[in-house]
Amino acid sequence: MPLYPAPRPAVPLAFPLLGEHVLLRPFEQSDAPAAHGVYGDEEVMRYVGEGGAVGPEEAARMIAEYGRHQEEHGFAFWAVVERESGILIGDAGLEVTEHGVELGYTLARPWWGRGLATEAARLCLAAAAGPLARPRLVALADVENPSSARVLEKIGFRRKGRRTAFGRAHHCFEWVAPGPR
Ligand SMILES: CC(C)(COP(=O)(O)OP(=O)(O)OC[C@H]1O[C@@H](n2cnc3c(N)ncnc32)[C@H](O)[C@@H]1OP(=O)(O)O)[C@@H](O)C(=O)NCCC(=O)NCCS
Repeated sequence: MPLYPAPRPAVPLAFPLLGEHVLLRPFEQSDAPAAHGVYGDEEVMRYVGEGGAVGPEEAARMIAEYGRHQEEHGFAFWAVVERESGILIGDAGLEVTEHGVELGYTLARPWWGRGLATEAARLCLAAAAGPLARPRLVALADVENPSSARVLEKIGFRRKGRRTAFGRAHHCFEWVAPGPR
């Protein structure tokens, strides 16, 4: 008799993941110009990964990598589409890292401050806790990026110390799905 229940098997996600104002769906290669509109902005990218705006080819490469990640793991960074306009406004999703399954999000500047990253992140949590059977997530927020930390706190992540990543100090966060697993 095992001491703990066996992990629940993952079920493929049914896209799009629908929120009130945004939907999440896998990126397509034709999204590359729209993605460059997001990732080509220095201010948007200041606290993302290595930091710094990327060119159109790098944006296309990032999308292709998300596609590979989706194929391999059943999740990835997904396109965030504002439902009313149909505009691709950024990404949100989950990535396998050395620290676990990590939540991340990046929105274009005109869309900041409307609660949309919080809504997109909540869709990621619902996918993780439900079909993906990934009840523990981690996240990082640059110590100089309080709005990102605030999103994490709003959706139930707890602070777990600090760590240097990409040469910059970050707050570490952890989220564990409520309820029996
Ligand atoms: C971080 C980011 C995703 C936030 O998106 P957003 O849609 O503006 O987030 P939301 O509106 O859902 O929530 C932001 C929260 O931060 C708060 N906030 C904004 N600026 C803040 C600041 N300087 N200090 C503290 N809190 C701040 C907002 O008030 C809001 O909290 P509230 O609902 O309690 O009022 C967005 O700014 C972004 O894409 N930035 C560039 C990419 C990035 O840095 N990604 C994170 C990498 S770790």
